Amino acid sequence: MAKRLETRVAIVGAGPAGLLLGQLLYRAGIDNLVLERRPMARVLARIRAGVLEEGTVRLLEEAGVADRLHREGLVHRGIEIAFEGERHRVDFEALTGRRVVVYGQTEVTKDLFAARQAAGLPILDEAADVLPVDLESERPKVLFRREGESCELACEVVAGCDGFHGVCRSRIPAERLRTFERIYPFGWLGILARARPVSEELIYAFSERGFALFSMRSPTVSRLYVQCDPNDPVEAWPDERVYDELAARIGPEVAARLERAPSIEKSVTQMRSFVAEPMRWGRLVLAGDAAHIVPPTGAKGLNLAAADVGLLAPALVALLKENDPRPLERYSETALARVWKAERFSWWMTSLLHKFPEGDPFRDRLQRAELDHLFGSTAQQTALAEQYVGLPLARA
Ligand code: APR
Ligand code: PHB
Repeated sequence: MAKRLETRVAIVGAGPAGLLLGQLLYRAGIDNLVLERRPMARVLARIRAGVLEEGTVRLLEEAGVADRLHREGLVHRGIEIAFEGERHRVDFEALTGRRVVVYGQTEVTKDLFAARQAAGLPILDEAADVLPVDLESERPKVLFRREGESCELACEVVAGCDGFHGVCRSRIPAERLRTFERIYPFGWLGILARARPVSEELIYAFSERGFALFSMRSPTVSRLYVQCDPNDPVEAWPDERVYDELAARIGPEVAARLERAPSIEKSVTQMRSFVAEPMRWGRLVLAGDAAHIVPPTGAKGLNLAAADVGLLAPALVALLKENDPRPLERYSETALARVWKAERFSWWMTSLLHKFPEGDPFRDRLQRAELDHLFGSTAQQTALAEQYVGLPLARA
């Protein structure tokens, strides 16, 4: 006999998408339960990107979890792009009147988790064999195993916030699911180090040796990346090699300020673009990485997940409190319109700033021309800035 549980919205995945949705629903008075495959301590330790759009900050405020973010987040008014020994600033504030906040996704997840705990709301972590069923009915269920017991969670909606490797997306029948993917011929090797950032703003660098990014988590912690082979094991990148490449790619002036502190985290990320359509199937909805992946150039991953949730939460409130299914019926189409724009921007930033290993001289010349155009054109810088700070959030 399976153990029976009940909630209104079953949320699969306790990443930022799942936890933010849970918090917004809770504040709207809608009962929800989060199922997570991994131990929560592991989820909270993951290091990811760290740039928040204003719209994301607003949603975190609505969720009641923005206090620490306002205290510790670093407000950035622009970025720099380094190329051939020169740095070119893109001034977000002058071009768009807007800014971004540098605050790690790890911290966002911790704040959301703390708020959920403070509200006494359940997260069932280490849930195995999670399987949403009966998604075309109005009473779907999620089957899973936990602590040796079979469980059956009855609900009204299943929210698939279970990331790229999750189970929910695969519950959409194959003949109705369409996926789009591009795998790039490079990855990012990232390190975290207790070292002062080389600059107050982020520096994206393009050189013949490849891309490099100088980011940060705080005034004393740097987050640094170099373009690498996606199949490189981290052992191929001892700290000295990482710092040598960072220095070579940025040039001597900035390199002189690079503090070579030992790395406290190191990982390789494959660069990928991916979109699944539709983002709703019956009473299953997808949000965040479960539905789409962007390469990290431009830092759209977390912001896109938050934007999905910002659209989904009111659509669920309309359905479950006002009995109005229409916003949820429009969710996929509305979300995808924005998703594809962020996909396009992330693909463009990635193509602009990476060395493509296949050695296509025509492509290389176009890339130089595009950089040159960007540095000289206010219109092009405005286009970059308005997408980097975030396109407007849609309403369902
Ligand atoms: N059952 C339960 N939980 C699952 C399952 C499953 N079958 N599969 C995956 N999960 C959990 C994962 O362990 C993870 O904690 O779902 C969670 C998904 O979280 P994320 O991968 O962080 O995805 P999301 O919440 O959409 O956040 C998007 O994360 O990857 C970055 O760039 C991305 O910044 C963006 C953000
Ligand atoms: C980061 O700080 O981790 C970061 C910042 C900007 C990006 C990607 C990652 O484009």
